[in-house]
Amino acid sequence: MFSSDQLVQAAAAARERAHVPFSGFKVGAAVEDSDGRIYTGCNVENATYGLTVCAERVAVFKAISEGAAKLVRVAVVTDASKLTPPCGACRQILWEFCGNIPVVMANLSGGLESITMEQIFPRPFDASFL
Ligand code: THU
Repeated sequence: MFSSDQLVQAAAAARERAHVPFSGFKVGAAVEDSDGRIYTGCNVENATYGLTVCAERVAVFKAISEGAAKLVRVAVVTDASKLTPPCGACRQILWEFCGNIPVVMANLSGGLESITMEQIFPRPFDASFL
């Protein structure tokens, strides 16, 4: 397993590639799998706004499409003093593909907090209801 720092560093590196001509708000994410691989993502904005994809979803979809093993942890990095949690859409995706994993939120000034998906996404809708 990687240290939180390694996962945060991977997310911070991905954040540099954020495509944010509209918000200017760069986000990087990194997910770690049970085989010790890291998949990263950045937010990619779109002129329609609504087609923007968050860093977390890019990272998860890259992991799935590249054949990742079980996803065990995610890190989200921004340059905001208020640490950035995943948005609602990303919480749904993270829950479905990762379950109750730790979510490490960090910024570029050394701020870091780890919370669980259950804490930020209680009573989720998922395949168990279908
Ligand atoms: N964003 C993310 O990539 N992840 C989050 O957790 C919060 C929001 C992006 C979407 C958009 O490009 C920008 O941040 C401002 O909302």
